[in-house]
Amino acid sequence: LREHEEFTKVKNIATIELGRYEIETWYFSPFPPEYNDAPKLFFCEFCLNFMKRKEQLQRHMKKCDLKHPPGDEIYRSGTLSMFEVDGKKNKVYGQNLCYLAKLFLDHKTLYYDVDLFLFYILCECDDRGCHMVGYFSKEKHSEESYNLACILTLPPYQRKGYGKFLIAFSYELSKKEGKVGTPERPLSDLGLLSYRGYWTRVLLEILKKHKGNISIKELSDMTAIKSEDILSTLQSLELIQYRKGQHVICADPKVLDRHLKAAGRGGLEVDVSKLIWTPYK
Ligand code: ACO
Ligand code: ZN
Repeated sequence: LREHEEFTKVKNIATIELGRYEIETWYFSPFPPEYNDAPKLFFCEFCLNFMKRKEQLQRHMKKCDLKHPPGDEIYRSGTLSMFEVDGKKNKVYGQNLCYLAKLFLDHKTLYYDVDLFLFYILCECDDRGCHMVGYFSKEKHSEESYNLACILTLPPYQRKGYGKFLIAFSYELSKKEGKVGTPERPLSDLGLLSYRGYWTRVLLEILKKHKGNISIKELSDMTAIKSEDILSTLQSLELIQYRKGQHVICADPKVLDRHLKAAGRGGLEVDVSKLIWTPYK
């Protein structure tokens, strides 16, 4: 299915049930035709299989033996866990996740070729299992230095800092790879807001510590944020001057403090010591 076709399609599934939540959907998602007449779809919150009737889900839950996403747990801190799922090894899970995610992503093309992606599933865990909060996908090999393809926080969990956590996590993976990264374009409005917020906070904190005596290249090496994204962020904060053909950072401490205050909450931190991961080969 091509992008422009998705644009013109009207929303098909109005509501989904996932774990203990009933969630209103936002956009069209290309479920197989036999699901398109269902007003509501019932998802198994662990394997993400979906069904048209509640009784089917109840029967499924009796025999589904998953209590967390498939794949490897690569991070655990308190009740938060992150699982890495290889789309090639868990094709059905990857496809189910894409169907689910598209319900909340407007402009993204759905990837049937889940083989080429890794999925990072963020969960809140309790004695009933690990409940998906959100995720991001990442190409195994990106020519364009993308370190994130799609990002989603499920609506019941939005505005609690999980988006920033997922973004921070994607940059921690890039640091471990020794590469800079950038999210795939286009970004949605909410995606841009979240990225701008993350970039602003991370860069301002370093600028403050170094009293502005640092280059864009050095900032990029420290953060794995691509130079272009650093430049556009600092430009939007009016911290860049163009002198003798060069971009120079002008970081007046008072201006930095004012921007830092406006940047709001830092959110949930990624504790790198709890990340056990080696880059995909
Ligand atoms: N209104 C205003 N600002 C918002 C809103 C909103 N509804 N949602 C997020 N923001 C901004 C705020 O600045 C917020 O920081 P603050 O709460 O400290 O002010 C910041 O974004 C991030 O907030 P988080 O709580 O960390 O992010 P959240 O968990 O809500 O997830 C996300 C953000 C992933 C973009 C979520 O809104 C979402 O899933 N949206 C639908 C899917 C989508 O658009 N994904 C991005 C597509 S682009 C891509 O995939 C590359
Ligand atoms: Zn299941």
